[in-house]
Amino acid sequence: MTRAYVDDLSVERLAALQEQNLELSRLVAELRNEAALRTQFLSNISHDLRTPLTAIITHGEILRDGILGELTGRQRESVSGIIGGGRQLLDMIGEILTYARGAANQLTLSRSDFTVEAVLEQVCTLNESLVAKKGHALSVTVEPEIPPLYGDREKIVHVLGNLLGNAIDFTAPGGKVWIRASRGAPTERGHVVLIEVGDSGIGIAPEHHELVFREFAQVDATASRQHHGTGLGLAIARKFVELHDGRLWVESTLGGGSRFYFTIPVRSAS
Ligand SMILES: Nc1ncnc2c1ncn2[C@@H]1O[C@H](COP(=O)(O)OP(=O)(O)O)[C@@H](O)[C@H]1O
Ligand SMILES: [Mg+2]
Repeated sequence: MTRAYVDDLSVERLAALQEQNLELSRLVAELRNEAALRTQFLSNISHDLRTPLTAIITHGEILRDGILGELTGRQRESVSGIIGGGRQLLDMIGEILTYARGAANQLTLSRSDFTVEAVLEQVCTLNESLVAKKGHALSVTVEPEIPPLYGDREKIVHVLGNLLGNAIDFTAPGGKVWIRASRGAPTERGHVVLIEVGDSGIGIAPEHHELVFREFAQVDATASRQHHGTGLGLAIARKFVELHDGRLWVESTLGGGSRFYFTIPVRSAS
């Protein structure tokens, strides 16, 4: 084999590899662009869907409250149904919007100090009517002298609301639902508060423990399922907790109820 022949071969192969590299880079750029466009689309559409939906809910409330004239009992019931459905839809759109923001790395924290009691009260008030409707017994326990949390209050309320909402939904009427807050084991990053949201409901088989945290994942994904959600709640909750350097996990067995736990840091003494 002559030297010139080898050189020719290498030059040819090099050129082919360079061509392939270029093609791959072009494909990667195209995919990135498509993903960004899809995220932007999700974000825009969710935003645009909210405006008319908010109008429907507000007008429903005006009717329900008798501002335009008294309604009969059945009319009020019907209008309340419209408002309830609208709110549910608004929550789902909110979840899709948060997911789109998370996918585009647009989530940021706005931290402050606040007490665990304050967020628990806020979340329990928001869920009061749902708990009553299902006839559950809700208990809330906070360890005495627990330190204040340091984090994004709105996001922590969102996480708690989501976990409590699931606990209420996935428990047959007349069940037990509880929230407990205590000092967690300190991590290398400092002290944390541990919050448990538990229920006596249907439970989750161990092989589904990680699946439920995946975006869009639901244990019962059939069209005939009782619960209608986006499957984004736990994925978003985990993202919010991890943004705080905390952890969110589940302990559960099928038929044995579920306990979701998460940790949130407290401000280190300085
Ligand atoms: N407390 C719970 N008990 C039983 N199953 C649960 C509970 N919380 C969540 N799950 C399961 O995890 C799935 C995903 O939950 P989530 O991410 O909140 O989405 P969604 O509520 O919209 O379905 C649920 O569809 C359900 O199958
Ligand atoms: Mg949910």
